[in-house]
Amino acid sequence: MSDKNIKNEKMEAIVSLAKRRGFIYQGSEVYGGLSGTWDYGPLGVTLKRNIMNLWWKMFVDDREDMYGVDAAILMNQNVWKASGHVDTFTDPLVEDLETKQRFRADHLLKDAGYDVDGLSLEAMTKLIQDNTIKSPNGNELSEVRTFNMMFKTTVGPVDDESSISYLRPETAQGIFTNYKNILDSYYPDLPFGLAQQGKAFRNEISPRDFIFRSREFEQMEIEYFIDPSTWEAEFEKWIGLVHEWTNALGLPVESVHELEVGEADRAHYSKRTVDFEFDFPIGREELLGLAYRTDFDLMNIQNAAGKNMEYTVKGTNTKFVPHVIEPSFGVERAIMAVLSTAYTEDEVNGEKRIYLKLPEHLAPIKYAVSPLLKNKEELVVKAREVYDALKKKHGNVVWDDNGNIGKRYRRQDEIGTPYCVVIDFDSLEDNTVTVRERDSTEQRRVSIEELCQ
Ligand code: GAP
Repeated sequence: MSDKNIKNEKMEAIVSLAKRRGFIYQGSEVYGGLSGTWDYGPLGVTLKRNIMNLWWKMFVDDREDMYGVDAAILMNQNVWKASGHVDTFTDPLVEDLETKQRFRADHLLKDAGYDVDGLSLEAMTKLIQDNTIKSPNGNELSEVRTFNMMFKTTVGPVDDESSISYLRPETAQGIFTNYKNILDSYYPDLPFGLAQQGKAFRNEISPRDFIFRSREFEQMEIEYFIDPSTWEAEFEKWIGLVHEWTNALGLPVESVHELEVGEADRAHYSKRTVDFEFDFPIGREELLGLAYRTDFDLMNIQNAAGKNMEYTVKGTNTKFVPHVIEPSFGVERAIMAVLSTAYTEDEVNGEKRIYLKLPEHLAPIKYAVSPLLKNKEELVVKAREVYDALKKKHGNVVWDDNGNIGKRYRRQDEIGTPYCVVIDFDSLEDNTVTVRERDSTEQRRVSIEELCQ
């Protein structure tokens, strides 16, 4: 079997496990689904929160120079005009001339083996025509056009030009529009950052690869305001911090790659971009981005809104509009990287086993507690005492008394629970329990006092 097939099989196994065990479901599935949307079940939402909380702790709570914000998703349409999104937030699109289905032109060309980096719309059209590239349905394709990816809506009862708004395609603009508020409320010294987590929406032409390319997803973004003379050093610092983040997610160092993005491929606002790519089962793809956005956004606000965005160096008359380094993290891509790193198959006692080798701090459930036999009242009572104590301490603890012990272990392995605790007849005598470890499957005898302290 080819390497690609093995990787695709792994991706399919992860998608199937995610659905079967209540991590992630297709959005609106009972109605046939809504492409590019995903719903999180009990385990998925906890995994997602663990990742987002870890990020918040690392980049906001543990630092002195960071301010958290939570801006509205709907924003004044002038935000998106000034930011350039109305004019330039586009993807290249081709239409199947028979079915009218639309596809990303760059994806079709890449899949056909062509390098599309920096190609204009005309050049892409020429490549398609010269090489008679067809749609995935085998039909002729239209010429390549641009397609704006913002979801448009109207705010209020009147549906006219002035009521247009957009679901934000990035959380960043909600940060820029609050820069002045934070400056006026907190008087921070440069450099300082504003951090935000929240939903972003993009009308992707072809959402694909599970949650990797969704139409509704979550971002964790920082706009780090700096003196422009320091941008190179600050950029390097952020490269280091991004690696600390991927380490904290438990991603193998050798699977994370830096890609220096060439000028032709950088977003319209960026003077330097490094994409951090990850070896996903679907191939090496973007996990997150780091960009030097200069003073592009604050100057746009200053010019369009007529508000002064200058920062005054304390105790001096020196004023300037700060520049910005922007690390932008996608939550779904982090989840996908964590799940594909954790997914493992091995053999235990001659039987195939599937388990998620999740780092303990990300696992949705930390302990599963069981009485050895569920029909022995004294074991159940004792096990309940242990369960209550662990639950009070950790929260993410479950009671699991279904099936035999072997089945319980397999079930917990599959969702990445690091420890299974079993209360047996010896526990009644000596107040010890068996703690079985997920990865090694080793079992140790531990005193209840030590376990719950
Ligand atoms: N504010 C900068 C910005 O939004 P971006 O490279 O367009 O930059 C940042 O997006 C990150 O958001 C990406 O690296 C990725 O992790 C995530 N992302 C972007 N589009 C996505 C999509 N359609 N589905 C899931 N995640 C996405």
